[in-house]
Amino acid sequence: MNLPIDEKIPKHPVLSLQSFTNEQGTEIPSILDAGDVRYLNRGSLAIAFALQHSGISHGDEVLIPAYHCLAMVEPVLWVGAIPTFYRIQENTEIDLADIGHRLTSSSRVLISPHYFGFLQDMKLIRVFCDEHHLILIEDCAHAFFGRRHGQPPGYYGDYAIGSAWKFFPVDEGACIVSSRGNLSGTATKSAGPFLEIKSLMNTLEYAVDYDRLGMLNAPIRSILKLKDKMWGRVIPSPVTPGVGEALELGVATGFDGKRVKQRNSIFSRLIIDATSKSRIVKYRRENYSRLLSALSSLPGCKPLFGVLPDEVVPHVFPLVMEHPEVVFPLLKAAGVPIIRFGEYLWDGMEQGLCPVSENYARRVFQFPCHQDLKPAELSWMIEQIGEAIK
Ligand SMILES: Cc1ncc(COP(=O)(O)O)c(C=O)c1O
Repeated sequence: MNLPIDEKIPKHPVLSLQSFTNEQGTEIPSILDAGDVRYLNRGSLAIAFALQHSGISHGDEVLIPAYHCLAMVEPVLWVGAIPTFYRIQENTEIDLADIGHRLTSSSRVLISPHYFGFLQDMKLIRVFCDEHHLILIEDCAHAFFGRRHGQPPGYYGDYAIGSAWKFFPVDEGACIVSSRGNLSGTATKSAGPFLEIKSLMNTLEYAVDYDRLGMLNAPIRSILKLKDKMWGRVIPSPVTPGVGEALELGVATGFDGKRVKQRNSIFSRLIIDATSKSRIVKYRRENYSRLLSALSSLPGCKPLFGVLPDEVVPHVFPLVMEHPEVVFPLLKAAGVPIIRFGEYLWDGMEQGLCPVSENYARRVFQFPCHQDLKPAELSWMIEQIGEAIK
């Protein structure tokens, strides 16, 4: 296999025939079960949709956790609101006491994420928001599936947002959900022909890059080569600019305010519908458990969550590194896929506001545990992590 990509195993879910095979096991609900759903293109656009829909604008303050990614800040800036950062605790629960101290008469919205799929205590957060008249945006970008207090992710928010491409074998796709009737009468726009084609092509290209389509790999590869010749690769490779530069260019996350109401492609919706949810749940949990038992006792690193609760469906496997600057280049050179949520914190956030967040931004590396990793790929990744940490 001659991969045109730096990562030897897939960072994200990959389309294959197995994507559609159901598995026996516990049924765990998803954000799609939480209420009224509208499909959109990206989670960051879904946050912008929620802010716009609730009339947030210039001078309003939106509370964002100090451990965040730029995709959570950009929509707030786009509506002209002011991001106000709050602390999180070591176990990643948001710090309601700290939020309480930061409230002003302009505070309007609280964005609360479920880090890496581990659900916050939303019952408590809901009560807090009601007491302080805050609109609650439940950020389920890392938690498409799960259950806590008997409810799916997204149930407690005035709005909830999900990022489907992190869980399903699609190139784009997100949703906004409301269990409180907030979306009635809202319309979304078609993705348009360019996005429809791009979504299909990129999904197939990713699957072929990792040889996941069996007998179809060769013919699809030939078609894609022809397309490349005629058109160039449809998507440019992702750019990772510096924070200031990224925000100026508006490319930190691909955020484009003109696309706030744009739906995901029909192809992405079909795949999301047809993909086996039970398989996603089963293999993400199994892969997480395998990583946990292989990496828990390694010196030089510590799993951020040492226990996988029964109804959590993890997005990734977050590992706290003792020497991140040493380990990162070694893993990159070996071709291990690493996700760095929070690698770039918003420039305007006061330094020292939340030492936990600053520490996690530097030290927590996230490794894939998605349903499409083969056992041999997982073993290879475990071996590479062990080698790099030695
Ligand atoms: C917590 C969180 N919220 C929102 C987003 C935005 O989602 P998307 O990448 O679909 O725009 C991300 C992206 O990684 C995220 O990590």
